[in-house]
Amino acid sequence: MTDTPHDIEITPIEPFGVAVHAPRPGARVGELPVATLRDLVREHHILLLRGFDGFDTPQELAAYSEQWGELSVWPFGTVLDLIEKERPEDHIFDSSYMPMHWDGMYREQIPEFQVFQCVRAPGVDNGGETTFSNTPAVLRDTDPETVAKWSAVTGTYHRETDFYDSVTTSPLVTTHPVTGTPVIRYNEPTAADDADFVNHPDLRFTGLPDDEMAEAHRTLRAALYDPAHLYAHSWRTGDLVVTDNYTLLHGRNAFTSGAPRHLRRVQVLGTPALDNPGLVR
Ligand SMILES: [Fe+2]
Repeated sequence: MTDTPHDIEITPIEPFGVAVHAPRPGARVGELPVATLRDLVREHHILLLRGFDGFDTPQELAAYSEQWGELSVWPFGTVLDLIEKERPEDHIFDSSYMPMHWDGMYREQIPEFQVFQCVRAPGVDNGGETTFSNTPAVLRDTDPETVAKWSAVTGTYHRETDFYDSVTTSPLVTTHPVTGTPVIRYNEPTAADDADFVNHPDLRFTGLPDDEMAEAHRTLRAALYDPAHLYAHSWRTGDLVVTDNYTLLHGRNAFTSGAPRHLRRVQVLGTPALDNPGLVR
């Protein structure tokens, strides 16, 4: 364990990220200086705050998150309740796996941070981990020939939900909007014949011949899910997780349908807010 200048005791998470555990029962996250936590997320990409006194309401979560920056506002407000629906119209509210993507890809602005609160964990052995892939590490650890193939690819994505009907386009390999570090922006395709996957997005990839494109998807998927680059967060009730959406891709492991998995999510915009560079409409 190491100490930050503000005496916050941080513990590394494998393969990346850091955790801060409540120093005593009843400690509140609001006691921790947000500027220090923000630096931790930018450096380590994942910050787990565990054992702190939680937020009882969505309003309390939003009020806390506002200390991090301006919040993304959706038609439903700023707090998304992630909970399985009985007859979901989209996979986000199903118990299925969620393919890798970045948040805000279909919106006017891309949030820098996501703040997740675990209201209720799905329970042991019920799955439902949120998955995060460390894309700069993927690029560093992959041979240059393969990265060159990925770099030739542009993805064009179309998705229609209750909240938007948008098209976005992005090179597969691009750069972090603030630091310039190479990162990956990719919405992982799911098999078109997967009938259990509700509301398939429409994904098109250009830049390579068909056989090389198939190989690029295969090598990229393997690298994103390589245990050296993937952190799958097993939720405990009360966890607060803050993540670096400019750097990571994220998804979800499937979970047992009916398990009481309930997360809340808030998106925090960058300073200044980042206009989505790929939004076509
Ligand atoms: Fe997401």
